[in-house]
Amino acid sequence: MSFIIDGKTIAATIKDELRQEVELLKAQGKSCALAVIQVGNDPASSVYVRNKKNACNYIGITSLSYELPEETTEEELLACIDQLNEDPNVHGILCQLPLPRHMDENKVIRRISPKKDVDGFHPENVGALTIGQEGFVSCTPAGIIQLLKRSNIPMEGKHCVVVGRSNIVGKPMALLMLQENATVTVCHSRTQNLKEICKEADILIVAIGKPQFINEEYVKDGAVVIDVGIHRMEDGHLCGDVDFESVSPKASAITPVPGGVGPMTICMLMHNCVEAMKRFS
Ligand code: GUN
Repeated sequence: MSFIIDGKTIAATIKDELRQEVELLKAQGKSCALAVIQVGNDPASSVYVRNKKNACNYIGITSLSYELPEETTEEELLACIDQLNEDPNVHGILCQLPLPRHMDENKVIRRISPKKDVDGFHPENVGALTIGQEGFVSCTPAGIIQLLKRSNIPMEGKHCVVVGRSNIVGKPMALLMLQENATVTVCHSRTQNLKEICKEADILIVAIGKPQFINEEYVKDGAVVIDVGIHRMEDGHLCGDVDFESVSPKASAITPVPGGVGPMTICMLMHNCVEAMKRFS
């Protein structure tokens, strides 16, 4: 039977650490603010945005809300970002994705000052990560590193297979694992022999967006399995990209869905906000 990596508890510990740090900073007269922009009212985005604001409240970060209508023009959104970039009382800016189709996501991401880019999506921060320099790191992969470290799972010298090559998860995940001295393989939808490659992983990180795609045939005995996916099934229950039932008896450690990677993402966003304030104000 495998060890269940408890993301909920680890995230709660990190949030409490941040809350204490923010309290100390407040005693020195320093406060921290995150601007959260949502364009339109996609229901899933609204849930994420609400959770981010709740986390801010818990930790003591001021959350400034910008709820813009779906018809907002790209120019209007860019003007809003410009204003927040200039505001010395705003330390982090987050523009919830996806944006409406009439907007150029890359242009919007580039407009956020790299010093306030707490999502770690700006090319300057992605570049810094690539060459091992200080910058903001995308929150989900940064959270996975914390899950592994705080569960005492060594990465050095291990073969880590990342399934998925998105800019938000797969690519930064591979770079972070490399920084931890793992040997890294990145697989994706065009990979041949996916099963064989996954089966070689000491640490298997799955971010492919297909419910319960990875079953026991993809997993080596004793592997550590990290599941980034989250899907709501027809019967209402949540599942990940990994078939937990068949994989967990084989794995030495595994993240559940929900309660694994999910809670870590917001937690690392909060971490990045506090860092932005400490570094740049
Ligand atoms: N949409 C889905 N995930 C994210 C995220 O991490 N940040 C932002 N800004 N939008 C998202």
